[in-house]
Amino acid sequence: MDTIIIEGGSTRLKGQVTIEGAKNAVLPLLAATILPQEGKTLLRNVPILSDVFTMNNVVKGLNIALEFNQEKKEILVDATGDILDEAPYEYVSQMRASIVVLGPILARQGHAKVSMPGGCSIGSRPIDLHLKGLELMGAKISQVGGDITATAKKLKGANIYMDFPSVGATQNLMMAATLADGVTVIENAAREPEIVDLAVLLNKMGADVKGAGTETLIITGVERLHGAEHDVVQDRIEAGTFMIAAAMTSGDVLIKDAIWEHNRPLLAKLTEMGVEATEEADGIRIKSDLTKLKPVTVKTLPHPGFPTDMQAQFTALMAVVNGESTMIETVFENRFQHLEEMRRMGLHSEILRDTAIIHGGQDLQGAPVMSTDLRASAALILTGMVAKGQTKVTKLNHLDRGYYQFHEKLKALGAKIERVSEVEHV
Ligand code: EPZ
Repeated sequence: MDTIIIEGGSTRLKGQVTIEGAKNAVLPLLAATILPQEGKTLLRNVPILSDVFTMNNVVKGLNIALEFNQEKKEILVDATGDILDEAPYEYVSQMRASIVVLGPILARQGHAKVSMPGGCSIGSRPIDLHLKGLELMGAKISQVGGDITATAKKLKGANIYMDFPSVGATQNLMMAATLADGVTVIENAAREPEIVDLAVLLNKMGADVKGAGTETLIITGVERLHGAEHDVVQDRIEAGTFMIAAAMTSGDVLIKDAIWEHNRPLLAKLTEMGVEATEEADGIRIKSDLTKLKPVTVKTLPHPGFPTDMQAQFTALMAVVNGESTMIETVFENRFQHLEEMRRMGLHSEILRDTAIIHGGQDLQGAPVMSTDLRASAALILTGMVAKGQTKVTKLNHLDRGYYQFHEKLKALGAKIERVSEVEHV
């Protein structure tokens, strides 16, 4: 297992960084490639992440031809043959996001079998909203031996009001509705940019999806879908992670190709703290003087609220800004584990259910820390850049799920950071 080693304390990030296509867009887009019964689908700007390889295996496990050209960052999918309707347990169990293949397989095959996603460190993450919506569309759902089986000769349009604007459930139901008989209205739908990206691809495939990005989706079912070409939208969470890295180190960084509109909640909070954020022709520039930043209160919410996927990284910024900041995590019930690790670096914070009070501005000391989930890994690395001395971050499998060449990109901006494998490390 690799370790990332950071020499922190005097880092000031400068220069420009290019971000990748969005992990949370490409995974549902790959699920959508199951739907077309004619033509091939080409996805461009694909990020090279372990989660993408896992989803590729899920799709290939359905007897679908898929080629991943890593040099060109493109995936070509041909789903025109007879496909299977059971997603392979060995891959689905590795990544809960695989559950979004349920809707497409069911819509195309009339039957689907997908293993129940396992637990997750950041919360229980049930899929009741996915299943309830499919039942409203006429599916018979059963759960036997850890598998979900769904059957529907032909799904029919339905009116669905989501108890919670779940991203995955919105994606599953949107895809299922594209081949249903009639019109499906999804109210209180998720509004994330990745939902919009999926709707754009589905419409390119011949679907009729309206309202993406708003709380009400109207999907009129069609007979068949065909292949299409699509550029995966830029990763707003990777972009936001580098914005925070620049802010924490009194840096001056241009995040190339970052989309202002997709990062508005984060940019509003950074500006409130005193960070200088400007929209430039080729991206977003972040300049800051850490000594002048002020503490803030942040509450995570479904888009367009502050993204939960930026919570851990933002608490790293709060940890180095002088004063008492408050982070309220309303989306997941157990997403403060990184604060326990930061305590080892000298951070004082109190956690009370969904609220963390962060006493920022203390001198942090480097220490060996362990990442507990994807975004926590990034947060610990960012903190290591500011803490005095050496920080070692292990369990990097979490990091590799969502960040491509993360330490190389930070090194190119001026961070003193290396990634060593266990053997060298010893
Ligand atoms: C997506 O997960 C993202 N993953 C997550 O990113 C992100 O944190 C999350 O959306 C929220 O923005 C991908 O897109 C692959 P949800 P998803 O369904 O779809 C509850 C990262 O770091 N819920 O919106 O699983 C659930 O328990 C990852 O990149 C139900 O109660 O998120 C949670 O509390 C982490 N019943 C809340 O909704 C359901 O049927 C948000 O879940 C579904 C969800």
